[in-house]
Amino acid sequence: MSETRRGNAQDGQRKLAQFRAAENDDRVFRYPTCHPSQPTGFCPCDGPAAKAMWFYLKTAFMNIVLQLPFNRLSIWLLRRMGAQIGNNVYISAGVWIDSMFPDLLTIEDNVLIGVGVKMAMHEFRLDEFIAGRITIRRGAIIGGFSLIGPGVEVGEYATVAGGAAIARDVPAHAVAGGNPARVVSR
Ligand SMILES: CC(C)(COP(=O)(O)OP(=O)(O)OC[C@H]1O[C@@H](n2cnc3c(N)ncnc32)[C@H](O)[C@@H]1OP(=O)(O)O)[C@@H](O)C(=O)NCCC(=O)NCCS
Repeated sequence: MSETRRGNAQDGQRKLAQFRAAENDDRVFRYPTCHPSQPTGFCPCDGPAAKAMWFYLKTAFMNIVLQLPFNRLSIWLLRRMGAQIGNNVYISAGVWIDSMFPDLLTIEDNVLIGVGVKMAMHEFRLDEFIAGRITIRRGAIIGGFSLIGPGVEVGEYATVAGGAAIARDVPAHAVAGGNPARVVSR
């Protein structure tokens, strides 16, 4: 693996693995990198070709399944890929879930994920890589076509409005909407 401009890619992968294994209580992992137009060491495309190909095949399969209106199939697949999905969860068709880190996603019981929702558990910034857990607490409703970013927790019985961009926690029982999202009612 390459040396990144500000960090060491192998060291970064080791620390990321510790974070994913929940060896501490951190919700967000950050690591300094070069500009993401160059290999940062965190993209699957930076690794061996066979491993990258396997990742992209899994991603394609996951994207196809999540486009379909087969809730039980979607939940089965997400659990297989490491996500924690509770009981009585409904995942609408056309959802996009970050295939790089499905294990960082927790959806508790009685949650509705609306059509076209996107959940990203990682991001590349100009000079750092970020991965973060997303937790959707029980009873929450995630409105259609909203975007949930890494490190976010949506509280119990909260509602995320359609089309919202959620970069911060949504308190329990609150309604949050807009871009950037704010609490619009409780
Ligand atoms: C968020 C939502 C539940 C609010 O419903 P509501 O309580 O009837 O909303 P109201 O019309 O009373 O509006 C309350 C406030 O929220 C704001 N708001 C409503 N929908 C919003 C949205 N999508 N984005 C941003 N703000 C929104 C309103 O502007 C209003 O703000 P104000 O008090 O400052 O004027 C609803 O608008 C929504 O987005 N539902 C999800 C629909 C959806 O995604 N369907 C597909 C799911 S499968």
